[in-house]
Amino acid sequence: MTTPGVLAGIDLADPALAARVAEGLVAVEGLLDEELLSQFPFVTEAASHLMHAGGKRFRPMFTLVAAGIGPAPTSPDVITAAAVVELIHLATLYHDDVMDEAEIRRGAKSANARWGNSIAILTGDFLFAHASRLVAGLGPDAVRIIADTFAELVTGQTRETVGAAPGADPIEHHIKVLDEKTASLLDTCARYAGMFSGATEEQITSLRRFGRAVGVAFQISDDIIDIVSTDSGKTPGTDLREGVLTLPGLYTLASDPGSRLAELVARPLTSEVEVAEAVALLRESDGMKQALATLESYARTAAEALAELPDSPSRDALSSLSRFVVERTR
Ligand code: IPE
Ligand code: IPE
Ligand code: MG
Ligand code: MG
Repeated sequence: MTTPGVLAGIDLADPALAARVAEGLVAVEGLLDEELLSQFPFVTEAASHLMHAGGKRFRPMFTLVAAGIGPAPTSPDVITAAAVVELIHLATLYHDDVMDEAEIRRGAKSANARWGNSIAILTGDFLFAHASRLVAGLGPDAVRIIADTFAELVTGQTRETVGAAPGADPIEHHIKVLDEKTASLLDTCARYAGMFSGATEEQITSLRRFGRAVGVAFQISDDIIDIVSTDSGKTPGTDLREGVLTLPGLYTLASDPGSRLAELVARPLTSEVEVAEAVALLRESDGMKQALATLESYARTAAEALAELPDSPSRDALSSLSRFVVERTR
């Protein structure tokens, strides 16, 4: 860690909170390492590959910070819950890279690029199995919640794959996908944090509203980063190459349908010259401005949910977390 109180670029400000979260993250890492072990060493190697390649650990951190809203933020169940959500997330990344034919993840070769689709899918399944094993220790409510979350996440990935129905509003469809595939898990991070730290039902409801809004914002900013960033640990322009329409492209299609940019974003781009052209046009587009405005509107919804929670260092840190999600696009 370079700056005290700053974890993965997120300023937690309060030294006691930052120390608790840093300690919690070490404990989470220990649990994760235990869950990677298999009797067959290759399975451990394949599962460790992305776990140890990097990653922001945004979901465990979010869970640990949000647990500060309740009276028992250091409960061992909070640590277990934080490990469970990262395992689920990581499993979905193994599968997502197969679906998206992605070659780089967390700055390393994706599992599918390294070992092929079969191994990537099986490793994702192994991680799901171990997340299930771990969540069993949190009781039947937690098991039901993660099962519902996973079903929702998979529904989002399916809805994205199938595409909007003819006549349906493509932007509404897209936001629904983001809510399902990404915000569902952030909702559960917030919910687990509240449940296992002893927060009240009202506080859990506010935390969940915050998680949902931050979750949609997180995916919008991830999709913007796919266009504008060169150091995300993933190959920039992956969505454009795959023909995956994200918010800036969808707004362009809606408001400027006859343009060269609309023509480029509407199909998978196989030529690198066209990818570079689309990136340059998208960066300066009205569609990008609208996407940034939508991102800000989710950050505002998140801030409204936070305003319902007691004024505290944890609430301030959640606010920093939400700002990080917006500002990482810059
Ligand atoms: C990537 O998530 C997948 C999305 C839901 C956008 P992260 O950006 O949290 O990925 P890691 O965990 O840091 O690699
Ligand atoms: C992330 O989706 C996977 C899930 C949310 C389950 P994306 O395909 O949009 O994310 P990246 O850009 O590959 O990380
Ligand atoms: Mg995807
Ligand atoms: Mg992807």
